[in-house]
Amino acid sequence: MSYRFFSIIPPGLESTLETELLNFLSAPSSSKIRKEIGGVSFTASLQEGIMLLEKLRTPSKILLRLGTKKLRRMKDIESLFNRANLQKLFPAQSSFSIDVYSQKSTLRGDIIKSKSKRILKALFPQNKNPSYLLQLRVNENQGVLSVQLNDGPLYKRGWRDRQGKASLRENLACALLILCNWKPNQPLLDPFCGSGTIPIEAYRMACDLPTRLSPQRNWTTLLPLKQHTVPPIKFKTKPLLIFGSDQEEQAILMSEENARKAAALIHWHKSPVEDVHMSHTNGVILTNPPYGLRLGKNVDSVYRKLGQLHQHTLPSWNLFFLTPHKRLAKLVNSNVVSIARFPQGGLWVDLYYAPQHAKP
Ligand SMILES: C[S@@+](CC[C@H](N)C(=O)[O-])C[C@H]1O[C@@H](n2cnc3c(N)ncnc32)[C@H](O)[C@@H]1O
Repeated sequence: MSYRFFSIIPPGLESTLETELLNFLSAPSSSKIRKEIGGVSFTASLQEGIMLLEKLRTPSKILLRLGTKKLRRMKDIESLFNRANLQKLFPAQSSFSIDVYSQKSTLRGDIIKSKSKRILKALFPQNKNPSYLLQLRVNENQGVLSVQLNDGPLYKRGWRDRQGKASLRENLACALLILCNWKPNQPLLDPFCGSGTIPIEAYRMACDLPTRLSPQRNWTTLLPLKQHTVPPIKFKTKPLLIFGSDQEEQAILMSEENARKAAALIHWHKSPVEDVHMSHTNGVILTNPPYGLRLGKNVDSVYRKLGQLHQHTLPSWNLFFLTPHKRLAKLVNSNVVSIARFPQGGLWVDLYYAPQHAKP
């Protein structure tokens, strides 16, 4: 039996999740992969959808769609739940919480929520653990009922005990690596590495290490999957040319500690961006320089120095960097182009690209 899933990623990055799905689905041509705003939907067996929880590196959540219906009157909510046939999918002692989002619709979100809770109480009176998180999204009266497969955000990998104030989410680091088309046989450098997110995720992705240090739990109790077991994961660690540097000693110590936990072999250096030296050629610089917003600092010189590093020290490398300000991006190189725009930490940021200045 096949189901429809919806995997979530910030709007603007859907193509990276689509790339991953094309790579991991066993029959991508018949999976009806469809980009939607803020995610990608696809068809797969329940078992395969759940396996993807362990494989995909770019989504923050994966939802299993249980039913859709036009919701104009209260009784429509009841028929949506009846159609979804929850008692077949979940154990009788299950309990549920439900998030409701309603926009441009006749029925208000709080009303839909209290009605849904009453329906669930009647369907599952025992109401014990395990508990599942349902989501009912209503847009222009069209209701979509889903259950979240992951029990915690998928970007929490389990290796990051310590992080800086402006660190990048782990799934976004993977999405950026896909966008800049970095290949493991190329050198990679993050000269503003902070807690080490980009180098560590690059290493784990390149070596095909498990996405998280411990697998997701909640889904194992979904009824049809009682016999499901996660297949053993092959470990392939490799010596790779992955570099992270930062001017702050604390950042390097934090990166080293995180990398140890993540089993990632990275070359870390404490260095301001202007002092970075590298003998390798044809690499990729992928980085997230400070935006200057939090401390109200002028960071113009940091962006100029990144431009100089690219032009004078690493001219054969391709440069990709994130910033919310076009003006700062132009200080790096007046010819930069934005190749993606997405929300991050409450701001819209662009991933800018500056091609290599010269072949080695
Ligand atoms: C936005 S944070 C990077 C966050 C990182 N991507 C992460 O996920 O943790 C920017 C980093 O740039 C470093 N930095 C600021 N100015 C620098 C400079 N001139 N040279 C090198 N590093 C610098 C800061 O210490 C900070 O760790």
